[in-house]
Amino acid sequence: MKHFLYIKDIPASDLKKILLDAKKRKSKRKKLFTLEPDKDNPLKGQLLVQMFEKSSTRTRLSFYIAIRQLGGGTLTLRSNELHLAKGESLADTAKILSTYGNAFMLRTDNDKKLEEFKKNINIPIINGLSPSSHPTQVLSDVFTIQEIKKKPISKLLICWIGDANNNVINSLIEASVKFSFKLNIGCPKKYEPKKDLLNWVKKNKGKIRIFNDIRKAATGSDVVFTDKVVSMNDKINKTKKLKDFKKFKVNSKVMSFAKKDAIFLHCLPRGSEVSSKVFLGKQSKVWQQALNRVNVQKSILLYCFGKLR
Ligand code: CP
Ligand code: NVA
Repeated sequence: MKHFLYIKDIPASDLKKILLDAKKRKSKRKKLFTLEPDKDNPLKGQLLVQMFEKSSTRTRLSFYIAIRQLGGGTLTLRSNELHLAKGESLADTAKILSTYGNAFMLRTDNDKKLEEFKKNINIPIINGLSPSSHPTQVLSDVFTIQEIKKKPISKLLICWIGDANNNVINSLIEASVKFSFKLNIGCPKKYEPKKDLLNWVKKNKGKIRIFNDIRKAATGSDVVFTDKVVSMNDKINKTKKLKDFKKFKVNSKVMSFAKKDAIFLHCLPRGSEVSSKVFLGKQSKVWQQALNRVNVQKSILLYCFGKLR
């Protein structure tokens, strides 16, 4: 049994195995309908409990489809509907989840809860987004990039424009070390990544460059990536933050600094950080990106159940 909490804690070889499995499974089920299980039905009868403390459209749908395609099913909970919200302890809740369920996916507003659940649970736990990380999203995005570019991500230059201190970029930074790819970050000075993460990157020989200039960051890149300026967990003055990012919007001009065949990615939902022209344009691969969450999360589930081929 394995947990899937933070990319930086998972060996690179395991992450690569997950992506290889996802590729094989995706190609094998081309003719199947959405809810038809894969031929080998590897998680037949297994229950994934997913709990959301924050909104979600893609994560809840893609995990639902993922476990169904492996032969199992999901139960989706909102934490405020549980006794947990009214005083039952996290430890007792975790024991109950382990009694009824076979895996637990949590989207939380506090990273400490992931650690607490991990301590008290005896089924695999998956981080479905926390204030610090969004690992299932980013691993899936590495898959999408390699699928479209038809080469290992280590041969590409990835550019991130926008808030460089949120969950998605943190996981992308961790992935840049695990998959050895070059990552350019373009953000206002005040919103650069945290020092301890940068120190970890340095210690692990990561290839990150930070620019406070959008043109320098985007030049020559194969992938331009962004995310909302204001994240769900941001406890800030939103108007002020949006103003700080005025010059960091991904528009056609920014895309013109990247390579001609560069693609645009966004985990969604979107805000004002990207122009509609880019978001809905030819270079944008956001729908393929969203759909691939299903394929990669299936292999993440198999990894957690110790059933990766
Ligand atoms: N990208 C993503 O995780 O979307 P949701 O918040 O809709 O799950
Ligand atoms: N950074 C965003 C990601 C949403 C999927 C947020 O946390 O709101």
